[in-house]
Amino acid sequence: MKGEGIGFGKTILFNEHFVVYDIPSIVSAIGNYTVARIEPYDKAKVELVDNRKATPNYKEEKLTQQQDSLKRMMATMNIDPSKNGIKITLEGNLYVASGIGASAASCVAIARALSNYFDMNLSDEEINNIAYEGEKGYHGTPSGVDNTASTYGGLIWFQKGEEKAIEQIALHYPIEIVIGNTGKVANTKAAVAGVRERREKEPEKYQAIFDRAENIAYLAKDAFEEEDFKEVGKLMNENHKLLQQIEVSSRELDFMVKLARDAGALGAKLTGGGLGGNMIALTPGRELQDTVANAIEKEGFQTVKTVVGASRKEA
Ligand code: PMV
Repeated sequence: MKGEGIGFGKTILFNEHFVVYDIPSIVSAIGNYTVARIEPYDKAKVELVDNRKATPNYKEEKLTQQQDSLKRMMATMNIDPSKNGIKITLEGNLYVASGIGASAASCVAIARALSNYFDMNLSDEEINNIAYEGEKGYHGTPSGVDNTASTYGGLIWFQKGEEKAIEQIALHYPIEIVIGNTGKVANTKAAVAGVRERREKEPEKYQAIFDRAENIAYLAKDAFEEEDFKEVGKLMNENHKLLQQIEVSSRELDFMVKLARDAGALGAKLTGGGLGGNMIALTPGRELQDTVANAIEKEGFQTVKTVVGASRKEA
């Protein structure tokens, strides 16, 4: 439909936080997405109606950041809100929480919807760049991993910096995962700043952790390519340990990770900024996915059952 655009949610399978320091990461779009719809508005301004289902307080806490993000994207696209009154409505089946790429999904959806509404015909690369500008409103200096997954879909090897890379990792079929939500809104900016501070204080300790994180990314890529999901799971467990060591996990995240592993998940770790937000468990097959999701829900947490590695058409 004219003036509509979508952006996928995402889950980081390997190396959130480390990716900020140019270490490779593996991220996947998930089957859930945000839709943005644009209509003419009779006042010379932008009206934003946010109908997404969300963790309590999420939308309120992110409102200023959301407005900043929108301003940045409109400026990058040379759209003057005082000349073009528009109403943007956000909806879709992506439950909005920390760690699921909600901000990036909304940026990509809005960029695509604006491109379509104003007949700009922008490429994926251009959409990705605009969404990255929008992400700055939420994150300060985002690595770009979220908006990349949200724009392109699929399972992606992502590295920023001098060795910048965005490559699809092809899977023969999508793999089931469970995402567990702590119900706590996490502040990614603060989590990233905390890592920076501690890294400066203890450079040697952090260097060793970062080196291992880099190894894990390459091992995980190989394991995915060989479709050795047991190995992927083991590496996810180890990745969680490293994230604990840089102090971005939390009691709830560790608890849910344990629940998932005890219920048979091949691996489990926090995903995204940490300190709340979400965890992810690798659960190939619907049966294992249900078992793990039930174990987490029994303790009162919400889950999302979805897949990683679906191409844009399948998602
Ligand atoms: O909190 P999320 O899901 O947006 O993930 C942030 C990922 C980080 O690596 C912690 C930060 C970044 O910019 O990559």
